Amino acid sequence: MSGRLQDRVAIITGAGQGIGLAYTKRFLAEGAKVVIAEIDVERARKALTHLAELGYGGDRVQFQKTDISDEDSANACATATVDWFGTIDILVNNAALYYDIDNENNSFEYLQQVFKVNLHGAWLMARACAPVMVERGRGRIINQSSAAAYLYQLPPMGEFKEVGAFSYSQTKWGIIGLTKFLAAQLGPFNVTVNCIAPGVTMTEATKKIVPEEFMPFVTMMTAMKKELQPEDITGAAVFFASDDAAMITGQVLCVDGGGAMPG
Ligand SMILES: NC(=O)c1ccc[n+]([C@@H]2O[C@H](COP(=O)([O-])OP(=O)(O)OC[C@H]3O[C@@H](n4cnc5c(N)ncnc54)[C@H](O)[C@@H]3O)[C@@H](O)[C@H]2O)c1
Repeated sequence: MSGRLQDRVAIITGAGQGIGLAYTKRFLAEGAKVVIAEIDVERARKALTHLAELGYGGDRVQFQKTDISDEDSANACATATVDWFGTIDILVNNAALYYDIDNENNSFEYLQQVFKVNLHGAWLMARACAPVMVERGRGRIINQSSAAAYLYQLPPMGEFKEVGAFSYSQTKWGIIGLTKFLAAQLGPFNVTVNCIAPGVTMTEATKKIVPEEFMPFVTMMTAMKKELQPEDITGAAVFFASDDAAMITGQVLCVDGGGAMPG
């Protein structure tokens, strides 16, 4: 039986762990071929070993060491994907500074660094992959925002000291804007661009960043009252990547158990 993404070629950035790895497993299960575009070689190697145990070899999944915030590296990832699998059907812009995010760092330099990876990196990857999609007259770009983009209440309360950087949330809001501009430009070429905004999801990164005792409060603020697992996010990505979403573009889908509820 063929999957919903049978023989589609996908690049998934930051797929060495967490949600990116969950996307990779689900895309492979749906018949896709995947290139893991990851900066952390150790994480990627572990992911490849895990995927090999599940029966996926080099004919289905490859790793390209990629720094999405570096022009040459982003371009090299697109080229390597075409060399391996012949084309690029889907780009999932999942990578971001999240595991290593320093929410206390309010400096301009750090704000620029977070933008360089989380927002400009997604743009560089889209710029590298779009020409292949446009030439074929078909493509899907799926950007990863976050429900954090909508959490305006997060900044510190109380006595004013200085304007916050809100680096992570700013970039995740920027991803929503990037989605809409790319969607408008690429739509005439049959390339859709959509965005997923997950809520707090129980990845390695979240377990490191969000104090355990805070999690009941997080889930209490959602309609579903349950912790989100990485696998809960994957169905939205398959949908956006599939033929079912052929006429859906420029949209943001919050997969957060009913937390942010924008729109
Ligand atoms: N986990 C959550 O609660 C949550 C919620 C909303 C949105 N998100 C977003 O989902 C995505 C994945 O989240 P996660 O929890 O799996 O995070 P994570 O930090 O575990 O995974 C991100 C991956 O991206 C890689 N990466 C970082 N910089 C890179 C670069 N310059 N080039 C290539 N790869 C790079 C990391 O090595 C890592 O493997 C991120 O965009 C994150 O912001 C996560």
